[in-house]
Amino acid sequence: MRMYDLIMKKRNGAALSAEEIDWMVAEYTADKIPDYQMSAMMMAVYFQGMTGEETAALTMAMARSGDMLDLSAIEGVKADKHSTGGVGDKTSIALMPMVAACGLKIAKMSGRGLGHTGGTIDKLESFPGFSTEISTAHFIEQVNRIGISIMGQTLSLAPADKKLYALRDVTATVDNLSLIASSIMSKKLASGADAIVLDVKTGSGAFMKKEEDAFALAREMVMLGKSAGRKTIAVVTDMDQPLGCAVGNALEVKEAIETLRGNGPEDFVTLCMTLGTQMLLAGGKAETNKQAEEMLRRVIEDGSALRKLAQFVEAQGGNASAVYDTSLLPQASLVEEIRSEEEGYLTRMVCDEVGTCALMLGGGRETKESEIDLSVGLMLQKKVGDYVKKGDAIAAIYANDEGKLAMAKTRFLKACYFGEKAPERGSFIKGIVR
Ligand code: URA
Repeated sequence: MRMYDLIMKKRNGAALSAEEIDWMVAEYTADKIPDYQMSAMMMAVYFQGMTGEETAALTMAMARSGDMLDLSAIEGVKADKHSTGGVGDKTSIALMPMVAACGLKIAKMSGRGLGHTGGTIDKLESFPGFSTEISTAHFIEQVNRIGISIMGQTLSLAPADKKLYALRDVTATVDNLSLIASSIMSKKLASGADAIVLDVKTGSGAFMKKEEDAFALAREMVMLGKSAGRKTIAVVTDMDQPLGCAVGNALEVKEAIETLRGNGPEDFVTLCMTLGTQMLLAGGKAETNKQAEEMLRRVIEDGSALRKLAQFVEAQGGNASAVYDTSLLPQASLVEEIRSEEEGYLTRMVCDEVGTCALMLGGGRETKESEIDLSVGLMLQKKVGDYVKKGDAIAAIYANDEGKLAMAKTRFLKACYFGEKAPERGSFIKGIVR
């Protein structure tokens, strides 16, 4: 087989066979297909799409490109959660300790930032010393001992997705249903959890801008999970404005900690409660929504979810004192408020633009090799629907470079729209796909 022929076949709109996909994934993983040819293939897939059969073949080929984790040494149901990516999405950092504090075993694999969206691993690295580069033996031992572990994608776990993910991030080929579904599900299937809860985002900050596309992605992933014998549930949620108020790695960690202290922003708390409920139901720890919600509330009130976060951070080499003293997290040297030049209701905040502001400040990667600045980002002081007077602060920018701060400020103001009437807001939770 020749990669050139496969690129041409896809470019011309034909479907690749499972055999061709297996070959392509194996050769790319073994560095026998260069990035420039795979970039061309990704762009061809982006424009031509993939059939359900191609998506399933790509998912399994990527899942099998490394080890398939055997978690049978962990007693009980192992649960995992994954988001399709959003702006200000610090959910795993609060939700995983909440659910673990309720007694469900969390064996999670996480990724880094992608495009304008952030990634859980980058965020967790805000804890000085924290590492997700742990061995499988460490991962299993930690889940057995404290009920929670998050590992990064090692070279042995879905390495094909690891390479492709980094390539798609810098070649504008992220937002394609088949590529997202196969990327997420290959990792989830390889990392061995029995129950998988997916948070599928929709809106201007999501890769799936339209609700119908988000539901299609949710259905595709639930089907891929179920056909591999895993309990899989997807919740479609709003990403038309940043989640909570913090956007940027260390700032989001701080907001997740505040949430575990009982002071989280309303939309973020709703999301954690909804996903947490689905996880506890799927993992057999609760029988009704009400029971699950009560369990989640209790672990916040009695402080056990916050203690679980500290225990988890420490177990993975991080400075757990930062959970109780957030001044130990990376801090930006410049903080400036962005004041409104208009008056009226904030009717819209173009969410991916806000993500791009954080990226431009240094909080995300421009190229595969970029180092990210964990301290930078934005703290929103107004959300869509709020009334804003001229001169009111809409957000604060955290930066380490005057030039980048000025650029982000201009871009952020252009992302905010005002009107005389309060905007109609749809529900935050759009639906659940089982
Ligand atoms: N998250 C992933 O893991 N992969 C994607 O392609 C998009 C979001």
